[in-house]
Amino acid sequence: MVPDGRLESHRVSLRTNTARLGGPPKKGEDAVSIEDGERRVEEGVRTDFRSRMDYGAYLDLDKLLDSQHPVSTPVHPDELLFIIQHQTTELWFKLVLHELESVRTYLQAHDVSRARKALARVKHIFRTLAEQWSVLATLTPSEYAEFRGFLGSASGFQSYQYRSVEFILGNKNAGMLPVFAAKPEQQERLRQLLDSPTVYDAFLRFLVAHGHDVPTDILERDVTQAWTQQAGLIPVFQRIYENPNAHWAEYAMCEDLVDLEDAFQFWRFRHLRTVQRTIGYKRGTGGSSGVDFLKRALDLTFFPELYSVRTEIGG
Ligand code: HEM
Repeated sequence: MVPDGRLESHRVSLRTNTARLGGPPKKGEDAVSIEDGERRVEEGVRTDFRSRMDYGAYLDLDKLLDSQHPVSTPVHPDELLFIIQHQTTELWFKLVLHELESVRTYLQAHDVSRARKALARVKHIFRTLAEQWSVLATLTPSEYAEFRGFLGSASGFQSYQYRSVEFILGNKNAGMLPVFAAKPEQQERLRQLLDSPTVYDAFLRFLVAHGHDVPTDILERDVTQAWTQQAGLIPVFQRIYENPNAHWAEYAMCEDLVDLEDAFQFWRFRHLRTVQRTIGYKRGTGGSSGVDFLKRALDLTFFPELYSVRTEIGG
């Protein structure tokens, strides 16, 4: 053993390579390969973690893996799936929010390359999340019905991170704040997001800095309000889309935002379809009408003008 806790590795030898070239190594040979179906732990691999950080410590896995607490009694075997599907989504939402805050900051600093890179990450997260619904879809209505009653009024509707993502993208709704009254820190953070410009607000200012004529009333809008379609923006985007080469950075950003909205809406759609196949038209545990309520979210939009401008392109 060398002082830093690694196994000595100097014995990985020429013999190893010769053995490899000449066919599978013989038993007892010093080869880094599979022997008897077992992969040998290479010399040099660290094995002593009494005084150094290991994987579990770095990731705080004890806490993470001790955070699944089924409430059904007796514990229903499928409740773990239900919990983990929610928790993994919340972890990804955490990163989505983090990245979207960066996008806003980069746009405010007119750093479009970094904004686009962070947006690409968010898009891929939503793609992963949309794909993940198929795991939950293996939960049949009968199985879910057996433990749904134990959930009380807990519902994704009370997801603070989901609401934060909606807010930073422009689906502001002060009516959501009371849901978080029991969690003052979360409520305060949501209020801050409600009072702050959205990613789209930052993008419009970026456009102004690049010589685009965004109407002042749009730039000075009350940012606590939900975004609604602004006819005055269509000519701005039309100019960009009709001459992409002259406005490449803005054009590429517009398309990234459309990708993002598509990806987000696809998540909402897959959620709706999973809900529909699992509980049909029952009311939600959060108290809403269920599928009908979720359907209405599909009419919400973040960047409506980026869709409307498409009607105008090409005459
Ligand atoms: C079989 C599984 C699921 C069912 C039956 C279900 C059902 C529902 C229903 C009925 C609502 C409407 C609010 C209510 O009255 O409760 C809702 C909202 C919501 N759920 Fe789920 N859900 C499921 C899985 C998930 C998962 C895995 C997530 C991931 C975090 C999630 C996140 C959300 C969010 C964020 C909302 C709020 C949507 C909005 O306000 O438009 N749901 N869910």
